[in-house]
Formats: sequence, C-alpha cells, structure tokens
Amino acid sequence: MQNPIRSLVYVSRSIQRMSLDDLNKLLIQARASNQATGISGVLLHHDGLFLQLMEGEPEAIELLFKKILMDRRHEAVLILVDSLRDRPRMFPDWKMGFYHFSSIEHLVGPGLIENAAHDMDKVTQLVDPDDPVTLLMATIWKANRQHFDRTPRA
Ligand SMILES: Cc1cc2nc3c(=O)[nH]c(=O)nc-3n(C[C@H](O)[C@H](O)[C@H](O)COP(=O)(O)O)c2cc1C
Repeated sequence: MQNPIRSLVYVSRSIQRMSLDDLNKLLIQARASNQATGISGVLLHHDGLFLQLMEGEPEAIELLFKKILMDRRHEAVLILVDSLRDRPRMFPDWKMGFYHFSSIEHLVGPGLIENAAHDMDKVTQLVDPDDPVTLLMATIWKANRQHFDRTPRA
C-alpha cells in the first residue's frame, strides 16, 4: 500500500444535551484541528446520538480518536468500522461536515454549514462493494437522509 488511508466510523451519545452553540464550538475547534492534521469526514448528530466518520493518515486518526475517547461530552463510544486501505477519501473537501436532525434546522446558523457545494448525497455514488466504509455510510445515509438537513433557513 502506497498511501493507506485509515477510515474510522463510530457512534456515541452525548452525556448532556448539547445546544447548537455547544455543537458550533465543537465544530469550529474540530475543523481547525483537522485542517492542521489532514483529517476529513462527517459528523451526524440526532437526538443526542453522534455518528462520525473520520479519514486520514493512520497516525493522525490514532491521535484524534484517543482524544475523542476521553472527551467528557459523550460516552458509549462504539466503533462500527475501522479500515486501513489505499483508497480515495470519501469527503476530501470536508474538514468535518455536519448534519443534524431537521427538526432543529430552523435554529441553525451558517457557522455549522461547511462547503455547501458538496453534498452528503454523494456517498451513494461512492459505493465500492469491497469497501465496508463506503457501504456503511451509504446505507446509513439512504435509510436516514430524510431526517437530516444542513440547509440554514432564514
Ligand atoms: C462527537 C465528537 C466529535 C469530535 N470530533 C472532533 C474532530 O473531528 N476533530 C477534533 O480535533 N476534535 C474533535 N472532537 C473534540 C476532541 O474530543 C477534543 O476535545 C479536541 O480534539 C481537543 O483536543 P486538545 O485538548 O488536545 O486540543 C470531537 C468531540 C466529540 C464529542
């Protein structure tokens, strides 16, 4: 393998209810840090549950995931897929994309939206039957996409 990418997908639940302000702070910090460490991915949030895909250099993912495991804002972290392979990134343009349950959509400010030209729907075009990361993300998205939105409302 020339440039193996480590892709890690986990679910967790927040310990206390996180406000949009809390989520915004988390994302601003996460994106700045991910920019520096070359990590991309997406974070889904629904009703206190998180699902995150992170992808990048194996060492960078190792360091970030150690921090995430110790983060007191969430618990019950469960890894769904952890893969190391020579593959294109699923979200090269998102330092950490974010989607949330649409019922709070009207409250969301532009700060939570990243790179609006790219859309989570493209995961369905990235499916490689031999790659569990692409299968998992596409399946989750197809089953739940109607609940999520990242479009801000006036
Ligand atoms: C659900 C969730 C997702 C997170 N995602 C990221 C992330 O993608 N990148 C990141 O740097 N920190 C992320 N964090 C925050 C890290 O756990 C940690 O607080 C942060 O990296 C600060 O580390 P530092 O104290 O070493 O600067 C996330 C935290 C939670 C609860």
